[in-house]
Amino acid sequence: MPSQTITVSPAPQATLAQNTDRNIPPNVYTLPQTAQLEALYTIIRNKETSRGDFLFYSDRIIRLLVEEGLNHLPVVNKVVETPTGATYEGVGFQGKICGVSILRAGEAMEAGLREVCRSVRIGKILIQRDEETAQPKLFYSKFPSDIAQRYVLLLDPMLATGGSAIKAVEVLIEHGVPAERIIFINLIAAPEGLTNFCTKYPTTKIITGWIDEGLNERAYIIPGLGDFGERRYCV
Ligand code: URA
Repeated sequence: MPSQTITVSPAPQATLAQNTDRNIPPNVYTLPQTAQLEALYTIIRNKETSRGDFLFYSDRIIRLLVEEGLNHLPVVNKVVETPTGATYEGVGFQGKICGVSILRAGEAMEAGLREVCRSVRIGKILIQRDEETAQPKLFYSKFPSDIAQRYVLLLDPMLATGGSAIKAVEVLIEHGVPAERIIFINLIAAPEGLTNFCTKYPTTKIITGWIDEGLNERAYIIPGLGDFGERRYCV
């Protein structure tokens, strides 16, 4: 069989440059845009991908995002003794965390968070469009009682206009969580949503896997992957 030439896509630095070109706000962090990550996105974006593969590969990206989110938590010095009797001067996490998923698509990210943070507390928030005002409206929320003392990993896979995420942060702030203690994690972000969100909350960090081109007239992300909830939950 003749050997095939494989084109390797951009190195991580390419994305940083791209972000600068596109005026992405400074509180937005993307995963390193490696060929492997791009391959995962190519699978989940493909409309021919089966639900099983969509689950498997979106879970892989979610796991990477959660790990990256944890990189943004503060640490304190911590000295331990190893089984050899030596001391090791390392670090430990400072403070407690919890997850908050924006229903319903954000629930898909809860398992990825639990895999990485054992027995993590997870709250939920349901925000939908108010038919009278066309504004995002809070329908339900349930948080750990001590949420004001925790760092919050806010979970929603698709950042489109930013309306739900902005409302979710507003509700968290009302519950005593400072904006700078919230880390918003998503798989794909539209530049419009990033601008809207970061203009309102410049101290909340956003960790996204990929920044897409923009929104279409129905507020779907382009190229995007379609409706995340439908692809994940509907056979
Ligand atoms: N939510 C989705 O599931 N997909 C989009 O493209 C935008 C919002």
